Amino acid sequence: MKFVRFLMKNSSLANVPRHIDHFSKFSPSPLSIKQFLDFGSTNACEKTSFMFLRQELPVRLSNIMKEINLLPDRLLSTPSVQLVQSWYIQSLLDILEFYTKNADDHTVLSGFTDALITIRNRHNDVVPTMAQGVIEYKESFGEDHMTSQNVQYFLDRFYMSRISIRMLINQHTLIFDGRTNPAHPKHIGGIDPNCKVVDVIRDAYESAKLLCDQYYMDSPALETDEHNGNSPVYIVYVPSHLYHMLFELFKNAMRATVESHESSPRLPSIKVRVALGGEDVTIKMSDKGGGVPLSKIDRLFSYMYTTAPTPNLGSSGGAPLAGFGYGLPISRLYAKYFQGDLQLYSMEGYGTDAVIYLKALSKDSVERLPVYNKSAWRHYQHIQEADDWCVPSSDPKNMTNYQFGI
Ligand SMILES: Nc1ncnc2c1ncn2[C@@H]1O[C@H](COP(=O)(O)OP(=O)(O)O)[C@@H](O)[C@H]1O
Ligand SMILES: [Mg+2]
Repeated sequence: MKFVRFLMKNSSLANVPRHIDHFSKFSPSPLSIKQFLDFGSTNACEKTSFMFLRQELPVRLSNIMKEINLLPDRLLSTPSVQLVQSWYIQSLLDILEFYTKNADDHTVLSGFTDALITIRNRHNDVVPTMAQGVIEYKESFGEDHMTSQNVQYFLDRFYMSRISIRMLINQHTLIFDGRTNPAHPKHIGGIDPNCKVVDVIRDAYESAKLLCDQYYMDSPALETDEHNGNSPVYIVYVPSHLYHMLFELFKNAMRATVESHESSPRLPSIKVRVALGGEDVTIKMSDKGGGVPLSKIDRLFSYMYTTAPTPNLGSSGGAPLAGFGYGLPISRLYAKYFQGDLQLYSMEGYGTDAVIYLKALSKDSVERLPVYNKSAWRHYQHIQEADDWCVPSSDPKNMTNYQFGI
């Protein structure tokens, strides 16, 4: 019996490359928040969702698995990346189990929901595990420009794909588990149709303040300000995504404020301003934490860069205030996922403004998804070209020679 199972397991494993080839030929189908809502309220139908997901999830998984295979060999072969890849293979196989099953059978539907929960749990640690792979690679081979560009390109797409897959899984499991969420009965899955932005700002501030007080024994105050006539700003959004972005921005703003005011009697507060327009909801967080020079701003969004010491992965010391350097890049992905953005504007010597842009209308908030195709493939192949801007001369002596006509 054991032997048969072993054989089965291996024969299905042998088919994996064929499945990936097949499903990666389809493009993922981006959904808008409006579609998520309509689907989850008026015509919530578990069978339709099941039939959509058993096709769409393998498509999204396979599109990104194609790109994992294009990573530099020395990164792909690290134990951490191998582990992540094995999770993806297992999850693809788990979903394909349902590919030919009867969608009218209730036990099939509930088995599918259980499988999705198993998959979500299996992938909980993808981000720190992948980060570990990058650290291992950096320690063994250093950082060359070409690889760090490829890693940046890949991780942005890989984590975006992961955010989208978790969104689909969460909507299905939350909507069809037969219960309403007791804490948030009006939410449709993970979406709040009336998300009061300033409430999420306060929640995120309080959590960051707790960490900051623990770490530095002090924390800056919060001031908020809204621009929408006399009423508060509401959006249709996934509050957990907004919370994630704000929490990361608050931790950064607090760390910068405290560290740049060690000798001041009072900490300047952090100001958050929210504005609602016809197209955008904009949230600007301003700190007086001393700022970052312009030349370093791009680097802050790099997965290979942080200024904080690497926190210990297995340690039980609680959540660190800073550490992997993933706060900004992942927060920007959450913003971009529904067609928004996150940008930093800094004045070195004074402070930083971090701005989150979201779409004001739920029909404009459409998933932004990576697709594997020829131009994605080309990104991993390109040879580093020479810079087409002059490099400033490092040898001013030549200049002197010209000047004096020698
Ligand atoms: N508001 C800010 N003021 C000054 N520096 C900042 C600010 N936000 C981010 N930074 C810099 O950007 C780096 C990267 O931030 P982040 O991606 O959140 O990673 P981490 O906080 O783990 O280092 C920080 O280490 C810090 O040096
Ligand atoms: Mg941070």
